[in-house]
Amino acid sequence: MTKTIAVAGKGGVGKTTATALFIRYLVEQGARAVLAVDADPSSNLHMLLGVPLEGTVGDTREEMLQEVQASLVQGGAAMGLAAGMTKADYLDYHIRTLISEGDHVDLIAMGRPEGPGCYCAVNHNLREVIDAVGGAYQYVVIDNEAGLEHLSRRTTRDVDAMFIVSDPTPRGLITAERVVELRDEVAVNIKNTWLVLNRVVGAIPDSLLARIEKIGVPLLGDIPYDEALIALEMEGGTIMDLPLDAPSYQAVAAMAGRALKGG
Ligand SMILES: Nc1ncnc2c1ncn2[C@@H]1O[C@H](COP(=O)(O)OP(=O)(O)OP(=O)(O)O)[C@@H](O)[C@H]1O
Ligand SMILES: [Mg+2]
Repeated sequence: MTKTIAVAGKGGVGKTTATALFIRYLVEQGARAVLAVDADPSSNLHMLLGVPLEGTVGDTREEMLQEVQASLVQGGAAMGLAAGMTKADYLDYHIRTLISEGDHVDLIAMGRPEGPGCYCAVNHNLREVIDAVGGAYQYVVIDNEAGLEHLSRRTTRDVDAMFIVSDPTPRGLITAERVVELRDEVAVNIKNTWLVLNRVVGAIPDSLLARIEKIGVPLLGDIPYDEALIALEMEGGTIMDLPLDAPSYQAVAAMAGRALKGG
């Protein structure tokens, strides 16, 4: 059974970093097949994972649809649509070709939607993508965009664990609260939700702890502010280059162990 993990939160709080750290943990645990889904239109997770990015679903979707339309008009011949191949099969096939294979993890990036004002297509595709390819993986880990479009449009599949990342500030927590509200409003089945505080320096003030309590989602733990991450980013290194004793990795490994226990 595939386990789906989603990472959400306000812009800039460290979603991509946390996603990469969770993936490093899975790799260190010997996970056989991990698919990273970059659902942020600015697509940069691949850099932190050290996986080449050849194309995005958003970049190719319009092109694909036009090809399919043209092909269907001509009875499938122009595109070499095999007899009996449906449009859905054809889209699935294209989605598979967009998966970049890394040494430890595969990646697919949703990219930006084509066409002005249409944010929906790419979000709709997230569901298609995970349906089409997710089943072949032991873990699917989704780095979400800063907004909450996937949740509000019910485009995410069932999720086993959602990590809401926040910085230890009231502003970060407001977005975390909003994510929780949306989770409760929509029909997405999310088994477990946790709050993760990132870039923590020193003790969390009581006022913030009280605010966290009110959100009603358990605090899984803190990721400390970590100079090793800054150094890694400046050198253009990948998460696989981070020393295993880096405080941020140690914190995430302990949290992931707790959150994902039981398979
Ligand atoms: N625990 C940490 N310690 C030090 N630096 C960190 C930590 N977590 C994240 N950073 C740094 O903060 C910056 C923003 O992190 P990241 O890109 O992961 O945020 P994000 O939530 O994915 O942002 P966006 O909303 O733009 O996608 C990066 O430069 C990253 O290296
Ligand atoms: Mg990001």
